[in-house]
Amino acid sequence: MADNSNSSASTPLSVVLIGCGRVAEKHLKAISKLKGLELKAVVDVNPDSAKRLLGSVKGFAATRIFNDYKEAIDEVKPSIVSVTVPSGLHFQIAKYAMEHGCNLLLEKPMTMSVSEAREIFELSKKTGLKIAMGHIYRYLPIVGLVRNDIAEGKYGKVTHGTIYVRWGHGDDYYNSAAWRGTWKSDGGALMNQTIHAIDLLIWLMGSEPEEASAMIAQRIRKIEAEDLGMAVLRLENGALAQIEGTTATIPSKHTAEFSVFCENGQLSMGLDSGKPHLNIFTVKPDGRLKKLNGYYIRKQFKEGGIFSYKCALNPHLGIYKDLCDSINEDKDPIADAYSGFSSVDTLLGIYKSAKEGKPVELPIKDGFNSTDMTGFFD
Ligand SMILES: NC(=O)c1ccc[n+]([C@@H]2O[C@H](COP(=O)([O-])OP(=O)(O)OC[C@H]3O[C@@H](n4cnc5c(N)ncnc54)[C@H](O)[C@@H]3O)[C@@H](O)[C@H]2O)c1
Repeated sequence: MADNSNSSASTPLSVVLIGCGRVAEKHLKAISKLKGLELKAVVDVNPDSAKRLLGSVKGFAATRIFNDYKEAIDEVKPSIVSVTVPSGLHFQIAKYAMEHGCNLLLEKPMTMSVSEAREIFELSKKTGLKIAMGHIYRYLPIVGLVRNDIAEGKYGKVTHGTIYVRWGHGDDYYNSAAWRGTWKSDGGALMNQTIHAIDLLIWLMGSEPEEASAMIAQRIRKIEAEDLGMAVLRLENGALAQIEGTTATIPSKHTAEFSVFCENGQLSMGLDSGKPHLNIFTVKPDGRLKKLNGYYIRKQFKEGGIFSYKCALNPHLGIYKDLCDSINEDKDPIADAYSGFSSVDTLLGIYKSAKEGKPVELPIKDGFNSTDMTGFFD
């Protein structure tokens, strides 16, 4: 069992990172900047990937390498296990780590099945172990401040929200690993590239999805799952959320944006080829429009903390800081275990609706796995 009893703010929390691929480098950079963490070991079935990862960031020469995650967890007994393996392996590793007393930084999506996501969420509730999800957008500056103001009713009734994630990836990306674009291990543009944006939109809108209607398509990429998906969600508060996620756009032109519309205010925030944009407006009592960008930027600078601008460059820094605070202060992380379950449920509801050609009620009652989509495009 991992020993989390002496995890005071002055004692570094030990970490084992499992999976040494693309996203793991962001984790390593974040860990290297936090005094409250000590990376004890990394794990990969391919030892060269582990060596390459440790060599990519300074300060990890003494970190041990394992090729079996069970051995690493059993021997190191870390406080935190970071799960950065292909998505189809998240469930088994997350479950094993929690059964051995470890908190998790679990990459998105939590699992590839509704019942498995529910099991991981329930396990976290039962054990009190923390799960911080890799839902990076919750850790961007300003979004948390705006979310609190929407929740407090500053902008009045939420009417609707939209996101688009046009995150083009070519064949080189999909060919770089056999798991990419498969129903079993990855899903398509919605499950991989759009799930954290959906999580953000729902979080900002402050209500859970109760119904999903969706269509998915294969337009250009030669993968098993979708390279384009569109969906509409109805939330419990009656608001509607519109979603577009695709990897079929030009790979050198990544654009993403989310917008929330309320009775007396609206917010749009996004990225266009790496350039951020922000537009927050409210309507004053005299009917005039007021831009609030400056107000939120100043407020964010003053408050700093997890949502500091440093985290905008690597949101995983915010996630790790948040997880350390959550363990030390026994509170839920911002992107908590429930957000992991709920976003998987929503995503699989979207796939189920596309498969059945009709709206699907959420949360899904009878279970649904990404593999239930096998053969959809045949
Ligand atoms: N939050 C984000 O912004 C973000 C960004 C990218 C990827 N991700 C998520 O991170 C995960 C990994 O994505 P990636 O692009 O880094 O993948 P990747 O293929 O680049 O890396 C995965 C690594 O896991 C290793 N691996 C496979 N099976 C293993 C096992 N049983 N034990 C130990 N290691 C094993 C592979 O050898 C590989 O090195 C995915 O779930 C993905 O959705 C999240």
